[in-house]
Amino acid sequence: MNQNLLSITGVSKNFGDVTALDDVSIEIRENEFFALLGPSGCGKTTLLRVLAGFEDPDTGSVTLGGQNLLSLPPNKRPINLMFQSYALFPHMSVEKNVAYGLQREGLGKDEIRDRVADVLTTVGLTDKASRRPAQLSGGQRQRVALARAIVKRPQLLLLDEPLSALDRKVRAEMQLELKRLQHEVGITFVVVTHDQDEAMSMADRIAVMSEGVVKQVASPVDLYSRPDNLFVADFIGSSNAFRGVASEAGVQVDGLGLLPGTFGASSGEATLIIRPEDMRLVDQDQAVLAGTVVDTQFTGGSSTIALSIAGHSSPVLVSCQGSASVTRGDTVHLAWDPSRAIKLTK
Ligand SMILES: Nc1ncnc2c1ncn2[C@@H]1O[C@H](COP(=O)(O)OP(=O)(O)OP(=O)(O)O)[C@@H](O)[C@H]1O
Ligand SMILES: [Mg+2]
Repeated sequence: MNQNLLSITGVSKNFGDVTALDDVSIEIRENEFFALLGPSGCGKTTLLRVLAGFEDPDTGSVTLGGQNLLSLPPNKRPINLMFQSYALFPHMSVEKNVAYGLQREGLGKDEIRDRVADVLTTVGLTDKASRRPAQLSGGQRQRVALARAIVKRPQLLLLDEPLSALDRKVRAEMQLELKRLQHEVGITFVVVTHDQDEAMSMADRIAVMSEGVVKQVASPVDLYSRPDNLFVADFIGSSNAFRGVASEAGVQVDGLGLLPGTFGASSGEATLIIRPEDMRLVDQDQAVLAGTVVDTQFTGGSSTIALSIAGHSSPVLVSCQGSASVTRGDTVHLAWDPSRAIKLTK
């Protein structure tokens, strides 16, 4: 495992009575593709701005490679921030847009030419070098913005919603592209997004944030299979949640009975989470729950069935391969492998 590059420790930031960051601590490793994920207003941009030096935190420390980062002015930090709305210079060619930052650093002509050529190859825009931004597609403009950020060879590249301006299909392509690029240039990436699919498909690890607080930091697989709390379980993928009292054999829920899980010794209030794909339709004699089909949705390779269960307020979701074999109004029976149940206490 790679070494830690960036250590964020106990960082808080208030704007008047708004707490944008509340005691945030995150370690980011060298060469990692790291995502900050959370709903609008949870503090993602503020955290990037603190890292880039455009905002001073009220408390906390940030080190990069062991050095105190907060004492350095923005232009002395080996960090580049690509803004939420990246602005290319409309009157300059692609090549000049990319070269601009290097010229400002006062590098020699030959070096600038070589580095720009290199980075345009990396992002696949060599043949568009002399075009203006208006003569490019959205995806190509995005690549120019990336090229401009990478060409300065920062140790750390911060990207704020880099793909938000793109339509769905181009966005999916650029997700793969961004990942390939990160791998190729070997720069640590911190990408902000509020799109969980995007974070899950690109990042090595993700910090899930809510209202200025980091709710969990983990790999996509761990966030999904071992959420730490209800916020994460709900935000990442879909989940069926049942609130009750924990015991060794599961969670006892008023009106529904004992919903099985393998939790070892447990007690107290808890929520049992079952992912839709872990729910199975079974014969009545094996049923844990019975419900009535209220809706079925076919989404290509799989279907989602929504059930209403007497005594439970929200619909229970079941996903299955192919098209659903049940229709609205059918009574169905449900069970799950108890080892797939997740118990949450916060
Ligand atoms: N300069 C500022 N002055 C006052 N409040 C601010 C300022 N900057 C951010 N905030 C507030 O801090 C909170 C966090 O804002 P931030 O921009 O970090 O959110 P975000 O997670 O990036 O959201 P989005 O996904 O919408 O971009 C919000 O409530 C925002 O209104
Ligand atoms: Mg933002």
